[in-house]
Amino acid sequence: MPYKLVVQGGAELNGRVTISGAKNAALPMMAAAILAKGRTVLRNVPDLSDVRLMCEILDGLGCETSFENGVVIIDVVDETPVAAPYELVSEMRASFCVLGSLLGRRKRAEVAMPGGCVLGVRPVDLHIKGFKALGAEVEVDAGNVRASGDKMRGAHIFLGGSMGPSVTGTCNVLTAATLTPGVTIIEEAACEPEVQHLVDMLIAMGAKIQGGGTPRLVVEGVKALKAVDCDVPPDRIEAGTFIVAAAMTRGDVVLDNVCVEHLGCVIDRFSKIGIEFEREGQTSLRVRGPEQLEAMDLTTLPYPGFPTDMQAQSMAMLSMAKGISFVCDKVYPDRFMHIPEFNRMGANIRKEGNIAIIHGADYLSGCPVKATDLRAGAGLVLAGLVARGKTEVLAVNYIDRGYDRIEEKLKGLGANIERVELIPRRRRTDFTPSGRLKAA
Ligand code: UD1
Repeated sequence: MPYKLVVQGGAELNGRVTISGAKNAALPMMAAAILAKGRTVLRNVPDLSDVRLMCEILDGLGCETSFENGVVIIDVVDETPVAAPYELVSEMRASFCVLGSLLGRRKRAEVAMPGGCVLGVRPVDLHIKGFKALGAEVEVDAGNVRASGDKMRGAHIFLGGSMGPSVTGTCNVLTAATLTPGVTIIEEAACEPEVQHLVDMLIAMGAKIQGGGTPRLVVEGVKALKAVDCDVPPDRIEAGTFIVAAAMTRGDVVLDNVCVEHLGCVIDRFSKIGIEFEREGQTSLRVRGPEQLEAMDLTTLPYPGFPTDMQAQSMAMLSMAKGISFVCDKVYPDRFMHIPEFNRMGANIRKEGNIAIIHGADYLSGCPVKATDLRAGAGLVLAGLVARGKTEVLAVNYIDRGYDRIEEKLKGLGANIERVELIPRRRRTDFTPSGRLKAA
């Protein structure tokens, strides 16, 4: 059912919000379940359309999956299927992660080229380079990646590309390497916490891996892995989104279930524009927004740099900051499709080459806007929280891919936001000449 989110701006956010498990950790962890026969249990899994889609993909790969109350159970019962079809994979890029697990365990894989959010060109050359270096035979044919790995051996692989390391590329090659005989060294591995979480899970399954969280992963292939029961860690991007929500509304919000260390760069940059942070115990963070946010320059980079997945939300915030901000995305240089939508709301943002120049506006005005991708959608909701009047955010399906009940969590903090079912707009051609609605 299509929905829109209707936000009435002006409420200050106060209170506590619990951050859900990380989407970008959960998806590769789910894919890794294929590496072992039997029942893998993942807890603290966010209720997202991407997670349900991954369950469907795994069902097609011989697993019996269930998802209830934040617990995903993946029971690998049939290890013969090796193909993940286009209609599912094209919906979500992370589904490409099943390739590494299939190749590692079943030595065969046929996975459609992935889709996902439209962030610009998103190749998979590094994934393929890594599999080939392991000795897999890989061919790309008719939109599918077909790979066989009977002769795979450990190898020394440089996995960086012109845009730096690849997060899911690292996850993919790493999972394949766990069951590949010999020692694999992955240089220029992505250091994102989500890779580290996957490493932790694989080690619990019996894999031999050193260097998790560093650019050099050393994997000693083992013969078999066992199914495990483990937790998905908190989502640093959802936490970052709520930090912006608190800051923009001059609010005072405590985020529970966060890993403060993984937010290091975000906290560092945002502290400089007047946002106050206070750690509460091990897993909570208090955020207080200033009377007036200051402008800043922001460049997104691979971890531990500022995350590209926080760029659109930060842009929403800077569109109201005092002064001129410059934003450069070094991970996805074309990830600026949301600028026209923010400008519709009264923001003053222009793009020069790969830099967005933001002149802080006195105010934003609510109006209908459309999410162009997952994080852009969140950015528009954030802009709606402070805009004058009513903002209607369309294409909520994007937001539902990565935020577990965003409107309920914002409402719990005092926001005025509703999810409203979209009634299809009738066109003249939907009616007969006598004015009756035509049968569907
Ligand atoms: C993951 C995240 C996504 C985040 C991104 C960057 C998941 C499910 N998704 O996406 O939310 O925005 O990391 O932090 O974890 N590249 C190549 N060749 C490749 C692969 C990537 O050139 O084979 C380039 C990409 O175009 C991009 C950069 O490398 O410019 C980083 O992409 P990558 O880290 O692979 O992103 P994803 O893993 O797809």
